[in-house]
Formats: sequence, structure tokens, C-alpha cells
Amino acid sequence: MCGIVGYIGKRNSLPVLLEGLKRLEYRGYDSAGVAVINSDSDIIFFKKAGKVKELESEFNKDLLNGNVGIGHTRWATHGEPNDTNAHPHFDEGRNIFLVHNGIIENYLSIKKKLSLEGFSFTSDTDSEILTNLVEYHFRHKNDFEVAVRMALTEVEGTYGIACICKAEPDKIIVARMGSPLMFGVGIDETIISSDAAAIVNYTKNVIYLEDGEFAVIRKGGFQLKTIKDEHIMREAQRIEYDLAEIEKGGFEHFMLKEICEQPESIQNTYRGRINFDTGLVKLGGLETVKDKLLSAKRFIITGCGTAWHAGLVGEYMLERYCRVPTEVEYASEFRYRQPIINSDDVVFVISQSGETADSLAAMKEAKRLGATTVGIVNVVGSTIAREVDAGTYIHAGPEIGVASTKAFTSQLMSLALITLMIAQNKGTIKERELDEMLRELKMLPDKIRQIIEKHKEYEFVAEEFKDSRNFLYLGRGFNFPVALEGALKLKEISYIHAEGYPAAEMKHGPIALIDENMPVVFIAPKDSTYDKIISNIEEIKARKGKIIALANDGDEDIKRYSDYIIHVPRTAPIFAPILNSIPLQFLSYFIATARGCNVDQPRNLAKSVTVE
Ligand code: F6R
Repeated sequence: MCGIVGYIGKRNSLPVLLEGLKRLEYRGYDSAGVAVINSDSDIIFFKKAGKVKELESEFNKDLLNGNVGIGHTRWATHGEPNDTNAHPHFDEGRNIFLVHNGIIENYLSIKKKLSLEGFSFTSDTDSEILTNLVEYHFRHKNDFEVAVRMALTEVEGTYGIACICKAEPDKIIVARMGSPLMFGVGIDETIISSDAAAIVNYTKNVIYLEDGEFAVIRKGGFQLKTIKDEHIMREAQRIEYDLAEIEKGGFEHFMLKEICEQPESIQNTYRGRINFDTGLVKLGGLETVKDKLLSAKRFIITGCGTAWHAGLVGEYMLERYCRVPTEVEYASEFRYRQPIINSDDVVFVISQSGETADSLAAMKEAKRLGATTVGIVNVVGSTIAREVDAGTYIHAGPEIGVASTKAFTSQLMSLALITLMIAQNKGTIKERELDEMLRELKMLPDKIRQIIEKHKEYEFVAEEFKDSRNFLYLGRGFNFPVALEGALKLKEISYIHAEGYPAAEMKHGPIALIDENMPVVFIAPKDSTYDKIISNIEEIKARKGKIIALANDGDEDIKRYSDYIIHVPRTAPIFAPILNSIPLQFLSYFIATARGCNVDQPRNLAKSVTVE
């Protein structure tokens, strides 16, 4: 959610800022802007509603020629996405320029105070208020660093900021409270960002800021402090990140690339964690909490959006194979309903980015109430990954497409591994069933490849239904959350209204929507729910709904009931949601592209929601 970049060093800063903004654009793309301290110490800025490409085409790059600068790509919170509300923000005298991610909750009272002091404002943003607050303190103290510190002690809310000052042009000050911020330490240069994607091209040595910290970065080095002015020593962490992973690699969209990467990403999730000779599952990151996992009286899984859907599948897995009561909570609701949590509970927090504000807050609340917290996270070194008691990385690799695809299936794989590890240790799974699962697991990457090879089938169905206005997705058991996820994927990238339901629940209301214009996607594998699903299909067919059935290879009977069939290889029930999700990802992708939608950057969305 919003992207921050900054550069201070010996290069011309502008190309670094623009390249960084393009890499961060998946985090927000309503508007973009840059401000550079030129060689004559004047600060020149450009900002504009729209994408970075539009910003770039609008200004004369020769005008920005300094080697200190900041940039921002925005996902609007306060104020519509227009040129004025775009960052960087600055004070009337154009001394302080600031880019901000997060929300300043008490901005109205600060605005009132500053207005009484003669400050005026041009935008609708809370970020402009913060900028002026820094300038206010600068006027009193004549010291940039002190001014930033004083301003930050006054604000309530969340922020990741980078700011520059015309009167002190040799530095960039960055700070963090609840919104990610880091800087890469290169040779004679520092690259600041809210996301490692903008840094890795220059250096792999990164310092992550913690909440309540700020850094003063100069050409010759940096000082890390708390906002109470206490010095901090911290070594840079080396991040393993391959630039090729965050490029499209010949695919038209990141989303398509990421869908097609799933044979490898799934394998990366389980690689090294299963001994196929002994059948033992071992998750190194969970060893310290293994006793807690085995003695837990209850599991709670929390997350948002797609991660929450993964949690729902996890509930089926953990209850069925570990026999431990499991609840799934929207992270955004969790802490507001005074949850009853105790030290026998284990709370799993699922998050691709590891930065989602609601998931982070839920995790903190669970910790505060004494539960053991376990992260299931993709982004290495992210806030949730750092703050949980223990965790397992899903190792899906960078996910840039805003709609989550490979991270979802790797979250499912991680949950399956955790389930098998616990079930093995508790003896709640039969050896024969476990052997069968592990045999299936080995075949999973190849089965995913078979699904990918059939992409023409999905494209054909997409072409047939691209103009539909509504969709229903129905599934049962393990595949009910798959229906929810299928519907979410479609609505977020194609803007077609779609709903997911447990197939039998359809009779209790949604059936009223069925007519000849309603496509209904049934997830109908040959498992214990098959006969019931067929009855549900008949109910829809009787009302002239259009049936798109996701069925197992070799299931010829289902032809009788369906208008369109998408075939998926059969697997063990625990892994079926992984295979069944992939054709639905393709279906959404092809429908959205056929409608001319920007699938990588759908309207109003951002990759990582770091505000509540
Ligand atoms: C949907 C999607 C979102 C995220 C949600 C949580 O395709 O990507 O619903 O799943 O915003 O994000 P993370 O997993 O980063 O916490």
C-alpha cells in the first residue's frame, strides 16, 4: 500500500527513484511523484495523478539533476487521487518535502493548531499536515532532525516516511511506525524503500526499521535512533532476492507468470521439509513451538482476503487430521470483539506480504492475550515474520500481481505440512493415509503442469462468459473456500460481481438469482461430496443456470449435467484445493484480459494493505 523510495549517494537520483517507483507500483498506483535536491540546493518536484509512466512523460528530466531525492506511488486514503493530493507534500515555503505511507489519525487537531499559526494547506491529505508539522518545528528549532523527531512525537497513527529539507540538503530522514520502511546500504550510496523490490538492484544489504525508529541518512553513512533520540546499532541483513524473480520474464502479466510458476512454487514450499524415505514432516521454523502445537487445545487462524480463504481450508485440514478445534477469524474483526484467548491457544497468522495492518494487529492482540503466535508468511524479513513467536515461510517467491495466486497455493501447502507434522506427532492420522498423501504430494508439481498445459480450455470458457454480469461459485468441504477464492479472484480483476457459497447453502437464498444468464461454477471433484454436488448441479440446471463444472479427469458422467467442463487431475483431498484453485485463477485471468482490464493493477486495489 503506497510505495516509498529515496536515494542519496553519488549517482543522479532521478533514474533510481523512477525505477524504484515502477517496481513498487504494485503497492499503489493512483498517483506518483518525485522531489530531488538539485546541485544548486533547490528542491525540484513533479507529481501527478495516474501511473509512474504518465508522470515520467510529463516532465523534463534534465531539470532534476541532484543525487538526493525521494519518491512515492500512492494508494489513496485521505483525499481523492489527483495531482494535488499526490506525494511528495511540502510546506508553503518549500523547505520540507515528505512522502508518507500510513494514516495520521489526529491530523485534524494538528491542522487546526497549524492553521492558527498561519499555515495553509492545498491538499486533502493527512500527509501534508505532517509535512507542515515538521516545518513548524523546524522554524522553532532550526534543526531538521529535531523537527522530525518533535513532529513524530505529536502524531498518532501509522507512518513510514522519507523527508528532505532545503535548508539541510545533505540528508534524508526516514522513520517508521506501523508501516514498513528499510534502506539498502550500498557502496557510497543508500537506497530507501518501503519494499525490498526497489533496493535489490543496487545492494542486498538491508537495514529494516522497527516501529518508533528513525534514521538520518547522509552520503557518508547513517545514524539509526529511536524517536526518543536513543542510538541503535544494527547490522545490515543480507536479503536473498533474485531480480529476475520480480520481472515478467516474457509473460504478458505478472499474474499469468505467477499462475504458471506454481509447479515450482509449490515444490519450494515443501522442499527440504519432508523426508520421503521415513515419511517425516519437519518444519525448522516451528521447532521452538512444537510442544505448544502438540498440546494446543485450540487453533485460531487469522488473515485477510485470500489469506483468510487459505485459513478456511486450514480449518478443514487441522480439524480432520489433527482433531483439534480450529476457528478462522477475519484479522480485521479479531481484536475488536474482545476475543477469548488463553495460553493453550495457538494463533496462526497467514500473510503473503507480512505487512497487512489488520493481520499484524491481530497477531499483536493474540500475543498480548498470551497465545502462541505462528506466522505463515511469504516475504522474508517482513514485520509479521519478525514479530511472531515462530513461523514458517511459504517460499513462493516474490508475488507482484495484485491478485494473489501462487502465494495462495503455497499457503495451502504450508497448512497441509503443518497439519501433517502435528497429526504425525499426535498419532491422529493413519499411516496408510499418510503414505498415500505423500505419494500424491510428489506428483503434485506434475499435475499442476498438466493443468497449466490446458490453458486453452479455460480461455475458451472465459470467452463464452466474459460479458456476464454475475457469477456464482459453489463447492463443498475442502472446496468451499476454493469457491470463495474463485469468486474473489474474478471480482477483483474483472469487476464482475461474483459470490462463493457452500453448494448446499445455495438453496437458502442465492438460488433466487438463478436464470439463463447466471453462470455457476461448480467445484465437483470425485470425493465423498460428489453425489451431493451432482444434486446441487441438478437444482441449478432445473432453473436454467449455466453450469461450468470443475471435475476430475476421467469423469465423463458429469457431461450430462454441465454446459462446460474443466478437467483437473485427481489428488488426495488435502491437496485438492491447490489443484482446483489453479483453473479458477486462469478463468479469472482470461475473463479479465478479454474485458481489457489491467489484471496486474486492478482499480482501487493495492498489493499490501498497510492501513486499517
Ligand atoms: C486477493 C489478495 C488480498 C490479500 C489480502 C491479504 O487476491 O491478494 O485479498 O490476500 O490483502 O494480504 P496479505 O496476504 O499480504 O496479508
